[in-house]
Amino acid sequence: MQTRREWLTGAGAAGLGAAFSTVPSRVLGAHERLVVGVMGTGGRGTALAAAFENQPEVEVAYVCDVDRARADRAAAAVQRAGGRAPQAVQDFRKILDDRTVDVLVVATCNHWHAPGAILGCAAGKHVYVEKPCSHNAAEGEWLVEAARKHRRVVQMGNQRRSWARVREAMDVLHAGEIGRVYYAQSWYFNTRPTIGQGKETAPPPGLDYDLWQGPAPRRPFRDNYLHYHWHWFWHWGNGELGNNGIHTIDLCRWGLGVEYPVQVSSTGGRYRFRDDQETPDTNLVTFNFPDGKTIMWEGLSCNRMPQAPRPEVVFHGEKGSLTLGGGGYVVYDPAGRELRRVTGAPNDAAHFANFLEAVRERARPHSEIEEGHRSTLLCHLGNIAYRTGRVLHCDPKTGRIRDDREAARHWTREYEPGWKPKV
Ligand SMILES: NC(=O)c1ccc[n+]([C@@H]2O[C@H](COP(=O)([O-])OP(=O)(O)OC[C@H]3O[C@@H](n4cnc5c(N)ncnc54)[C@H](O)[C@@H]3O)[C@@H](O)[C@H]2O)c1
Repeated sequence: MQTRREWLTGAGAAGLGAAFSTVPSRVLGAHERLVVGVMGTGGRGTALAAAFENQPEVEVAYVCDVDRARADRAAAAVQRAGGRAPQAVQDFRKILDDRTVDVLVVATCNHWHAPGAILGCAAGKHVYVEKPCSHNAAEGEWLVEAARKHRRVVQMGNQRRSWARVREAMDVLHAGEIGRVYYAQSWYFNTRPTIGQGKETAPPPGLDYDLWQGPAPRRPFRDNYLHYHWHWFWHWGNGELGNNGIHTIDLCRWGLGVEYPVQVSSTGGRYRFRDDQETPDTNLVTFNFPDGKTIMWEGLSCNRMPQAPRPEVVFHGEKGSLTLGGGGYVVYDPAGRELRRVTGAPNDAAHFANFLEAVRERARPHSEIEEGHRSTLLCHLGNIAYRTGRVLHCDPKTGRIRDDREAARHWTREYEPGWKPKV
């Protein structure tokens, strides 16, 4: 592992052409108190705000939501966790303008992830950004560039990267215990209800809908967008693949030791309900990598598999297989006989602690943003393959789409004038 303080200040960043940030930010001591602002306080942001407040030597000074009631609710949750109420604000630029804030946590809707994180880097904040780290492929590239340019620690919220037994399982795979690993399968199941047919209404009182839309071109408010259902509209979300597929696809990519694919295909549809949802509820996506390696992801948003519990991921190698699930792992021989079972448990706090340590030590975090971007990019490519109905061919050095202008148009999005992220 790269030694402390080397990663952002030395060889790790220099090769990427980084310049020292020109933005003022505090020089931190190894044990110094970190000041945090949280942007987006739905279920996830509120949980993150309380969890960061519970970390040693951390003060959550701001909670921010464009929905006033949600910001206030998060402030109360932080107070319960730490005894002190943070400022509840509706405009995250208040956090950016406060030079005493070291860390921005971005837990908004997906279309705000990269734009918010890029602005955070430019304002001198280190950033914990929820998964997926971007709403489209170009934004992921810009976010990596912003992290390098401003020399900020940026970690994505794919917390399994910090679960102890998952890390151990990766060591087992990379040490060759099941031989060369060439195929990884993963799944997500849920029983989500219909989102119905929405109707145009005035935005609810207390919601700044203009700031909620932010970088996305303006659309009239409809009553089945908020909260949470934005995931199922391409304008703001990335479907189940970007919502939950990202967690296990990231593990597949890590275990196989691959970066960018050569081919991506996707099939499925919105089969279960007839409603406004644009993204599929039934989805089968495959990613082929150089040197004969494949990832398969299956998503069922509105139907559970009957045989439970099922592992989250299965790796297949020349000498056996390894399953991941519940924070632990099991190793099997080639005939499917169990050789070793190691129990574990989810531990999201380990991911937050790893990020904060990386900020204090200027070290590379477990889910450094370039890794987060590569896994998120797989989700974007899977969605582009679904939306165009075509097999994508990609450059394995960059993930860029080859010889398909229509598909390549989805690499980025149209932005509301004045809101396009700039690095
Ligand atoms: N890592 C995990 O396990 C995990 C779990 C759940 C959610 N998430 C991610 O966290 C994000 C939030 O999820 P959620 O379930 O809380 O969704 P949600 O829709 O309930 O909450 C998002 C919140 O962001 C607010 N928001 C939008 N734009 C904003 C802005 N410009 N400034 C301030 N607030 C803004 C919304 O008003 C809303 O309250 C999603 O991107 C999701 O993918 C991650």
